[in-house]
Amino acid sequence: MNYKSLLKSKKFKIAVWGTGYIGLSTMVYFAKKKIKCVGYDINKDKIKKINSGTLPLEDLKKWFGFDIKGLVKQNYLKATSNYKNLISEDFLVHFIAIPTERNGKPYYKPLINVLNNISKIKKDRKQTPLVIVESTLAPKVSDKKIIPFLKRKKLIIGKNILLSIAPRRDWFIEGGKNLENLDRVYGSTDKKSTKVTKDVLSIVCKKLHTASSYKVSEMVKSVENAYRHMDITLANQLSLAFPKDNMREVLKLVGTKWNVEAFHPGIGAGGYCIPLSSRYILSQVKNINKLSLLRETIKTDDGMGKLIANSIAKRGLKKIGILGLSYKGDLKVSVLSKVIPLIKHLTKKRLKVKLYDPYFSKKEIYEAAKVKVFNFPKDLPNFDCLIISVDHKQFKIPKKILENHTKNCKLIIDHDGAWKKYNLKNNYHLSGDDGWL
Ligand SMILES: NC(=O)c1ccc[n+]([C@@H]2O[C@H](COP(=O)([O-])OP(=O)(O)OC[C@H]3O[C@@H](n4cnc5c(N)ncnc54)[C@H](O)[C@@H]3O)[C@@H](O)[C@H]2O)c1
Repeated sequence: MNYKSLLKSKKFKIAVWGTGYIGLSTMVYFAKKKIKCVGYDINKDKIKKINSGTLPLEDLKKWFGFDIKGLVKQNYLKATSNYKNLISEDFLVHFIAIPTERNGKPYYKPLINVLNNISKIKKDRKQTPLVIVESTLAPKVSDKKIIPFLKRKKLIIGKNILLSIAPRRDWFIEGGKNLENLDRVYGSTDKKSTKVTKDVLSIVCKKLHTASSYKVSEMVKSVENAYRHMDITLANQLSLAFPKDNMREVLKLVGTKWNVEAFHPGIGAGGYCIPLSSRYILSQVKNINKLSLLRETIKTDDGMGKLIANSIAKRGLKKIGILGLSYKGDLKVSVLSKVIPLIKHLTKKRLKVKLYDPYFSKKEIYEAAKVKVFNFPKDLPNFDCLIISVDHKQFKIPKKILENHTKNCKLIIDHDGAWKKYNLKNNYHLSGDDGWL
């Protein structure tokens, strides 16, 4: 029987290791197809919330567009903090969705921890369990870490365990860019793993692309994001090279060409994927001069905070209010947000910085950025420079209030155009326009 039928028979279940954005969405999409899913996480609070039918990540509510309560009630969705519950015979598929980075660097302790748990499954099962790695991996990690680890645990790939690497591309801001609709690449270690993975992923994913091996699918993730990293950074370099020209407008119009995407200058690339991708690739290359484009991309991208802070200090501005800690609008993710190094450089210049982000508590903001929060919109008149780093919906307030509260502000830099519809006069700049720096 194929794995799709085995899962649909309800005699077998899916195990998901890590119930964050990626793992939880895997569970929810398979549960929606009436497949039983159980997630394991070290965060007990998440487990409690999932089992009570509450989304632990509130910002995903809009993205899913449906409630998970019904799926929990019908027993399709469950979570546990005891890993032993996931290694019994009835778990046919294991999705790995734990973090693979820490402080901007690849970090594989959770991955090894999960593989160690999975390796405790019985070796002589009637149905060979399939492991699908969804977490982002640097090129060659399967060959250097995953496969040798499984071999050390006496698991024969293709015989007692099947393995595929299937990275994710979801965009947790736009509902349509999800597991069902986005093109999905996967690659496997052997023919059986390839076939079985197709059976399983096709339950949810409409457009699958089979790579000739796991090595290829593993590399696709870093390379596709390194392209974006370079494009975003080129927008910044162009803006720095032509400071008196409106590069924002130039690039918007460049994007009207049929084979060019529009990028805009700004504070740099944030989040889990883009800023790490070039590093992931370089970490596996002996002579990094062979990839000088990526080397320069990292250097310029990481340097944006310092450049912007210097420019603000040079103008004699002293009190800086920043709106947005997230790296993207309407999402509560501050991982590698470029706001954090920007604040560090502003404070180094002895400027007074405060931050507001409706998605984060005072404590979370202090822990991430080491600054105090301000009241929005009440405190806006206290600042002589405002930086709107993302376009959270909550930043759009009645026109009169915003115009009145910012009328004495000497510089407003708007990264994503959250305030572009207001009439904020010539102290207002979209990042990349003439005079923003
Ligand atoms: N979020 C995205 O947009 C996105 C997109 C593509 C790929 N990815 C990749 O997917 C992976 C997961 O990302 P995420 O956004 O879901 O992260 P996340 O931080 O939201 O979730 C990870 C979860 O794993 C749990 N965890 C940590 N160590 C664990 C362990 N040893 N055992 C079990 N659970 C453990 C954490 O408690 C957390 O709930 C990363 O490799 C990331 O780069 C993320």
